Amino acid sequence: MTPPRIANRLLPWYQQSGRHDLPWRQSRDPYLLYLAEIMLQQTRVETVKPYFRRFLAHFPSWQALADASLDEVLALWSGLGYYARARNAHAAARMVVDRFQGEFPTDLAQAVELPGVGRSTAAAVLASAYGQRQAILDANARRVLFRYYGFTGSARSPQNERRLWQLAEQETPAAAHDYNQAIQDLGALLCLSRKARCDDCPLFGPCAGPGEPTQIPQPEKPVRYACFLLLRAEDGCVLLEKRPNRGIWGGLWALPWYALVGANEAPELAETLRDWAREEYGLRPQLGEWHPWQRHTFTHFHLEYRIIEAGVLVYGVGEGRRALSPFAPEQLAQLALPSPLRRLFS
Ligand code: ADE
Repeated sequence: MTPPRIANRLLPWYQQSGRHDLPWRQSRDPYLLYLAEIMLQQTRVETVKPYFRRFLAHFPSWQALADASLDEVLALWSGLGYYARARNAHAAARMVVDRFQGEFPTDLAQAVELPGVGRSTAAAVLASAYGQRQAILDANARRVLFRYYGFTGSARSPQNERRLWQLAEQETPAAAHDYNQAIQDLGALLCLSRKARCDDCPLFGPCAGPGEPTQIPQPEKPVRYACFLLLRAEDGCVLLEKRPNRGIWGGLWALPWYALVGANEAPELAETLRDWAREEYGLRPQLGEWHPWQRHTFTHFHLEYRIIEAGVLVYGVGEGRRALSPFAPEQLAQLALPSPLRRLFS
């Protein structure tokens, strides 16, 4: 049995109950829509709003963003997380200016050439900016379709992925802009990952899937473990390491990161950390307080980490050692920091 087309039920609900006041909803400006989609990729709407406003105020156009330095861009992104997005946005703006004559491409195949722009993000911009009939499959749309059509297993298996895209294409009407916003709002307001409000769903459940909709799709992010050393010098300065530009927290200031195999702490962990600090950074830390375990979620994994306070008497970069830079406590607020550190220092 083919369930009825989603749009017929979804669009009237969206007109009545959708989030029409989001700062990017009424715009048709490809730059603004692109920026919103990038910021919303892994971040909740309420978190994005102030960043979106500030970022647009500083960089109101592709040209302004392309002309900025990466440090300026990262500083405005600081706290929003997933910093590869900021680096990609900067590179994408330069590409739009240099290769696409300052205009977001009108062609899906060209749009996905921009760094950090996947098929769904490109489709969302093309549908909203240019009125094209383009299907999206972001996390919200994916969850709605997954449940509605009774998928099982992983939302990311190649087989499910192919089928979900087919259904997304099939369900998307000519009024793709409204439909795309509507399915995102359904996912964000009612078809929630943990507490689905099925009684209020305009699609008139039950979904085709077996069992509890809130149990699917299965969570599937792996967990990694780490210790961070919070090193303080005698003068009260905190020692931070600039992360390489590529990868996790790229270009931000962070604590030295010691990866663990699991949460089980070997009895000799303190000894291991001291040896590691000596070999990598040329330090002899006095370990102090061990903070409790915390969790931080990245796109592809959860990080379980604990911070370990440590004092050092002398520091300086030795040959072949990784560099640490000292910052006085009052300097920390101005730095581009990952959000767990921003919270820690505030
Ligand atoms: N998440 C991704 N794109 C979005 C949009 N345009 N509105 C609300 N949430 C979103």
